[in-house]
Amino acid sequence: MYTDKVMDHFTNPRNVGEIEDANGVGEVGNASCGDIMKIFLKVEDNIIKDVKFKTFGCGAAIATSSMVTEMAIGKTIDEALALSNQAVAEALDGLPAQKMHCSNLAADALHEAIKNYREHNS
Ligand code: FES
Repeated sequence: MYTDKVMDHFTNPRNVGEIEDANGVGEVGNASCGDIMKIFLKVEDNIIKDVKFKTFGCGAAIATSSMVTEMAIGKTIDEALALSNQAVAEALDGLPAQKMHCSNLAADALHEAIKNYREHNS
């Protein structure tokens, strides 16, 4: 049912935790299941230097959180804003159709964190 990449990121998630001196934080909840994802950013010179996440959710939500952190690190904030939920799901070689809604959390939380960064640093 799940691809090897989803299983890899679920069983061995990257960048789990918090960034104490984060300068952007975003949190989103999935209304349909109640799962929550929080993303912490460290942005310097318009580049995302570090990303960490905490996700209280299903395996697909954890795998997409992990993947979005890997995709965002090293990007400019504009490039990271262009990352879509679909792109994250594709980077995991796809998700089962009934789990696509779980991938919505990942990019949305990232975008919220960037919005938060911009509100405080513009
Ligand atoms: Fe809630 Fe997947 S079931 S995010």
